[in-house]
Amino acid sequence: MTKKIFPDGFYWGAATASYQVEGEIENCDWAGAAREGKVPVCGQACDHYHRYEQDFDIAKSLGHNAHRFSIEWARIEPKEGEFNENEIEHYRQVLQTLHDRGITPFITLWHFTLPLWFSESGGFERKDSPEIFARYCAYVVSKLGDLCNHFSTINEPNVYATHGYLYGAWPPFKRVSMFGKSIGKEDGTSERTGAIAKFGSLFSYFKVTKQLAVAHNFAYRAIKKENPSAVVSVVKHVHYFYANKNPLNQMLAIIATYFQTYQFMNRVVKQCDEIGLNFYRSTAFGLKETFTLTDMGWKIAPQHIYGAIKILARYNKPIFIAEAGLADEHDTMRADYIKKQTLATWRAIQDGADVRGHMYWSLLDNYEWALGFEKRFGLVAINYDTLERTIRPSAYVYKEICDTNAVVE
Ligand code: BGC
Repeated sequence: MTKKIFPDGFYWGAATASYQVEGEIENCDWAGAAREGKVPVCGQACDHYHRYEQDFDIAKSLGHNAHRFSIEWARIEPKEGEFNENEIEHYRQVLQTLHDRGITPFITLWHFTLPLWFSESGGFERKDSPEIFARYCAYVVSKLGDLCNHFSTINEPNVYATHGYLYGAWPPFKRVSMFGKSIGKEDGTSERTGAIAKFGSLFSYFKVTKQLAVAHNFAYRAIKKENPSAVVSVVKHVHYFYANKNPLNQMLAIIATYFQTYQFMNRVVKQCDEIGLNFYRSTAFGLKETFTLTDMGWKIAPQHIYGAIKILARYNKPIFIAEAGLADEHDTMRADYIKKQTLATWRAIQDGADVRGHMYWSLLDNYEWALGFEKRFGLVAINYDTLERTIRPSAYVYKEICDTNAVVE
C-alpha cells in the first residue's frame, strides 16, 4: 500500500447549491414551476439558510478546508435592478462562518435557479441578459469580494440549456420534438401538430447556449473591474466519452466531446482564471462493459474522472473539482467511489494536470431538481421531517483523505 500525496495547499471539501439546500426560496423559476405542479416542491429543503453554522461545524469536523456554495440570485435581486442588502449581509455571515472554521469559500454566482422577474421576461433568451447577469455578478463581488477570492459565474451551462430547452424537464420546459405530436380528431383521422413551434425550441437552445457564454464573458469583465484580484471561473460539467479502437467510434467520441465540452469552453476560456470541473458520467462507443449503477442509474466509474480532467487540462488553467459524487442512499458504494475518484485525480496531477482542489457533491443530501428529495448524494444524511443531520460512514473515509492530503492505494 502506498500513500499518494497531493500538492501542498490542496483544497478538500464538499459543495452545495442554494436552492437545493437553503429552503424558503419562493421567488425563483423553480418555485414558480413547483406551484404549477411541474416539479417537486422544495420548501424548507435542509433549512441550511438557518443551520449553516451547524453544517460548517460538521464540514470542519470532517477535515474539510474548502467549501463551494452558491448565492441565490432571486434573494439578492428580487426585482429587476433592486438589490437586497439584508441578503448580502446573510451571505457575509455565511462567509465569515467558513473563515472562522478555517474553510476557504468558493462561491458560485448562479446555479440553475433564476429570479422570477428574469425568467418571466425571457431569461437567457433576453437580448440584454448578458448585461443583466454581469451587473448582478459584479454587485455580489463588490459586496463579498473582501471575504472570498474564488467566484464561479455559471454552473453547468450545457446541463441547464439541455434540460430547459431540449428535454423540457426543467424550467422553462421547452422541448424539441421535430415531428410534433399526433393528435386524434373526432372523425377518426389524425393530424400532426406543434412541429414548428417545438422545433423553435432548438433555436432557443442554441441561442441560450451562446448567450450563456456571452454572459460569462461580460460577467468576467465586470467582476474584474470591480475586483481585479478575484479568481473567476466557469463550472463545466464534463461527460467523458471514450471508444474502442474502431476509428469511427473514436471519431464519435471526439465529436461528442466537442459538442458537450469544447464548444462552450472555447467561447469562454480566455475569460477564465481557473476552471471548475463537475464529473459524474461517462459513455463508451463500441465497448460492451458492465458496471454497477448508482441510485441515479449512472454507472460507477469514478476512475473516468481522469479522462474528464485531461479534457479540461488542455486549456492550461488551474482546475478544481467543483462537484463529483454519487447518489447512494445506503452508503455502500460511496467510500470506495471517493477513493477511486481521488486516486484518479492524483494520477491526472502526476501526468501534468494542474488540479488544485476537490469538492465532493454534496455535503448534505438535498433537492435533486426534478427528482425531488429521494436521491441521496450527501456525506451527511438529512432526515427531512426532523432536519436531523447524520454523518454517513463514508464521510470518515473522505476525512482521512482530507486530513492526510493523501489517498492510500
Ligand atoms: C448539478 C447539481 C446536481 C448534481 C447531481 C450537477 O449536475 O450541478 O446541482 O445535484 O449534478 O445530479
